[in-house]
Amino acid sequence: MIVLGIETSCDETGLAVYDSDRGLLADCLYSQVDIHADFGGVIPELASRDHIRKTLPLVKQVIGAAGIANSDIEGVAYTAGPGLIGALLVGATIGRSLAMGWNVPAIGVHHMEGHLLAPMLETDPPSFSFVALLVSGGHTQLVRVEGIGQYQLLGESLDDAAGEAFDKVGKMLGLPYPGGPHVAELARTGTAGRFEFPRPMTNRPGLDFSFSGLKTFARNTIIEHSEVEGGLDGQTRADIARAFEEAVVATLAIKCRRALEQTGLQSLITAGGVSANTRLREVLQAAMQKIDARLFYAQPKFCTDNGAMIAYAGCQRLLAGQTESLAIDAFPRWSLESLAAIS
Ligand code: KG4
Ligand code: ZN
Repeated sequence: MIVLGIETSCDETGLAVYDSDRGLLADCLYSQVDIHADFGGVIPELASRDHIRKTLPLVKQVIGAAGIANSDIEGVAYTAGPGLIGALLVGATIGRSLAMGWNVPAIGVHHMEGHLLAPMLETDPPSFSFVALLVSGGHTQLVRVEGIGQYQLLGESLDDAAGEAFDKVGKMLGLPYPGGPHVAELARTGTAGRFEFPRPMTNRPGLDFSFSGLKTFARNTIIEHSEVEGGLDGQTRADIARAFEEAVVATLAIKCRRALEQTGLQSLITAGGVSANTRLREVLQAAMQKIDARLFYAQPKFCTDNGAMIAYAGCQRLLAGQTESLAIDAFPRWSLESLAAIS
């Protein structure tokens, strides 16, 4: 089955064509980062307007790149939530309308299910069951995954998501939006061990996270070192970035290991924007080796928002015969656990 995937939940317009026989045929992405950079964060109205401008030209582009005709498309998958309501409605409206015009089924995909299944696009995909660490700009969750749509939330952030904390600390360090990749880049030149940041909620049982205290710790360290003569020097900024990254990564790894021990499962997947972080991958890999477990993740471009994960997830659900009414609907808040299981 050939499925067109449309992702417009936030500040990236992602399109892809996935074929259940041949795999991913094409994908393309337009990032709005330049539009939002001046504001230091995503402006929802600007995001919606730009998705309107970009989605249809990208649909044409990705179908051309896949080397197929419109008439070859057998289903349309679009992100139906969670995300920014206006941005979601653009993808939902275009996706449903195209499907109606082409007389094929359409399906609204859960954005986090898309992320969760992105490692399935790799050449050595994980097999069920596994634990998923979902780390994006809006979510930090540990999920027990028995199959598509069979999700049990094991733990989640009680406040900021990991990506959100990266972005806020990036802002404090004067780095461009989104801060995550820039903090990671700066951390490379940081001195290990100069600052020791706390590992929140690791010395008590449970699988929940909290990153807002860590963010405050970073703020206080920045303020303290800005008050010296000459202000915050370049090396200190890098050292703070490194200590922060190390603390987030160590905290995530401790909880992942705990989740595997608790569930008795032997595979961990990590997905979502922060899973593109090289240091996180290294530390998780080392933690998994210690307990004879395997780690899976997607290539970096499919960790952050993209159309391929939506095309893939939608294709699996359409193949399983899942159908929906023609209503155009989007869900800014939507629980992963409420999704229907497919066999
Ligand atoms: O999954 P995603 O593209 O969008 C959401 O669904 O939120 O995740 C975006 C988040 C941002 O917070 C961004 O700063 C973070 O992922 N991110 C990173 C890295 N690349 C993206 N954080 C740390 N290190 C990275 N290399
Ligand atoms: Zn995302």
